[in-house]
Amino acid sequence: MHYPHEVIHDIRTLNDIVDVISSYGVQLRLQGGRHFGLCPFHSEKSASFCVNGEEQMFYCFGCHAGGNVITFVMRHENMDFLDALKLLADRVHYNLPDAKSSTGAKIRARERERTAELNKQAARFYYEQLQQDSTEAELARSYLMDRGVHISLQKRFGLGLAPPGWDNLIAHISAPGSELATAGLAAQSQKNQSRYYDRFRRRLMFPIIESTGRIVGFGGRALPGGDDGEAKYINSPDTPLFNKSRQLYGLNIARKSRANEMIIVEGYMDVLALHQVGFTNTVGVLGTALTAEHVRLLKRASINTVTLLLDSDEAGTRAAEKAIPELLSGGLSVKVLQFSPETGAKDPDEYIQLNGRDKFSRLLTAAKSHVAFKVGLLKHRYALDSESETNQRIRFTEEAASLLTSLTSAIETDAYAQEIADISGITTSAILAEVQKQRAQQIKSQDGQTLIIPTSNRQRVRTSAEEKGLKEARKRLMNLLFTYPVTASALAKSEYLSPEEMCDETYSQLLVLAFANAQSKRHMPPADIIAHFEILEDQQKVAEIFAGETLYKSDIDMEKALNEMAFIIKRAWFTNEMDVLMQKNDLNAVNNLFLSKRNLSSLYITMGDG
Ligand code: CTP
Ligand code: MN
Repeated sequence: MHYPHEVIHDIRTLNDIVDVISSYGVQLRLQGGRHFGLCPFHSEKSASFCVNGEEQMFYCFGCHAGGNVITFVMRHENMDFLDALKLLADRVHYNLPDAKSSTGAKIRARERERTAELNKQAARFYYEQLQQDSTEAELARSYLMDRGVHISLQKRFGLGLAPPGWDNLIAHISAPGSELATAGLAAQSQKNQSRYYDRFRRRLMFPIIESTGRIVGFGGRALPGGDDGEAKYINSPDTPLFNKSRQLYGLNIARKSRANEMIIVEGYMDVLALHQVGFTNTVGVLGTALTAEHVRLLKRASINTVTLLLDSDEAGTRAAEKAIPELLSGGLSVKVLQFSPETGAKDPDEYIQLNGRDKFSRLLTAAKSHVAFKVGLLKHRYALDSESETNQRIRFTEEAASLLTSLTSAIETDAYAQEIADISGITTSAILAEVQKQRAQQIKSQDGQTLIIPTSNRQRVRTSAEEKGLKEARKRLMNLLFTYPVTASALAKSEYLSPEEMCDETYSQLLVLAFANAQSKRHMPPADIIAHFEILEDQQKVAEIFAGETLYKSDIDMEKALNEMAFIIKRAWFTNEMDVLMQKNDLNAVNNLFLSKRNLSSLYITMGDG
């Protein structure tokens, strides 16, 4: 669902940033035209959190958090863009129009709303059932206590009980059976299609709740002493609101921990066990593989590192192996933790019950990188120990080295080579040499021809100084383009830089926007530029562009700066592109690129009459 930029602009400007931030209890003091206070996003003693009422932006000089009023709400409430927008709209009684909806979309929206309402009523019913005097309620409560789930945690997660019997919920909620079926709370009788029965019976109920507080579905665990054949867990079926591949159990609570790291476990009970002992940044997948949708949810919650803590059986290992590439492609760092069978625990819940919190905490701190995890699997497959034959060790090392060939950072490659060396007893330098060899072979085998490029040139990784220079150049260029639209016109006219050449998704989008603004002769304040981005990370990046003020003494200076920045960015793009083409062994393209690179420094963008 997308709102037009005018709507976003209206909501943003109706909500004065100073008012909103103050309403969250941040004490602000006016000082030189700007407001200062203690940053709510990191702990500090001196006020480095600055709110600029004129620009409607905030920035913390301590932790570099920054953005507009929407960013602030997203961060403070741990909400995504749309939810923050809705909150701000409500705050000023702004009627958010239904974003571009067809009749079909309207029907689905109504179904979603209805499902949420019925889920809410059901959750309340299940919750009350758990507090009753009935035999089942007592059994359920003592079962939870036995498993270490205390009352406060039961309340925090809204746990409940679906009583035994076929129609307790149906009888309690006054809604047609078909509606309850759409919501996944009832099922239609096969024999008599006009009859419905409760889907969840004699089960502990785990409501699955989104960050907005909306209950989207349920998980239900069989109580002890039930029928032999019954499934231990059942979830809500797919409904207008629910799909188990798109939910992470406990995320509504876990995101409040404001951690950038998240622990992912397999089971409902594992989530509760970890929360119970203080690891509140834990979520669970609902008995499914980790999907790209899950990764998006994590990114939206500002997560940058994930620890996979899956069951220590074969299924858990396979699940971890599959989840790793999904998480990596979302740009997340991945660690993996598994218990060895000797601990007697198959999942984190059991581990904690058996070994206690402290041991668990130590284990967690020692979680290994995903590469180390894979190397561990290999080691297992090769049954490596001190007695192993040399050629076993060599084959192991070769395979382990192949895990490193795709890494683009020299630092990472080095660190992992070290880990492999520790396991195999083969020296780090021999492993690194093997990695280089395999990379070279990969390039050769992509094409019959052999391309002779010195190894050191091929895997060219930007040094940290280059990386820093490039980042700075991008920031300063964007600041310039948006502050002085005349420079954006000049750059657009010169066709010197295209959006892809920014080598960064956020900056590509910014360049498109800067060019569009220049064309329509529009001046866009930073707070509005930020509102073009829905992800916190992007908003943060944009805020940083405008955090510092850059003054130019003359137009000549400005023109110089424009050329300087554009050159640095273009050069980085060239280097990058060259690497890519060399990997593909596309000699013609390499040649052409080389020729155009020679012209690069002779080009000069003039602002002229811009
Ligand atoms: N699951 C499921 N359907 C099943 C079994 C499991 O959907 N028949 C999902 C549930 O989300 C469950 C998770 O897979 O939480 C992990 O399953 P399992 O390890 O069997 O359950 P635990 O969470 O360890 O359950 P418990 O400790 O209560 O036995
Ligand atoms: Mn378990």
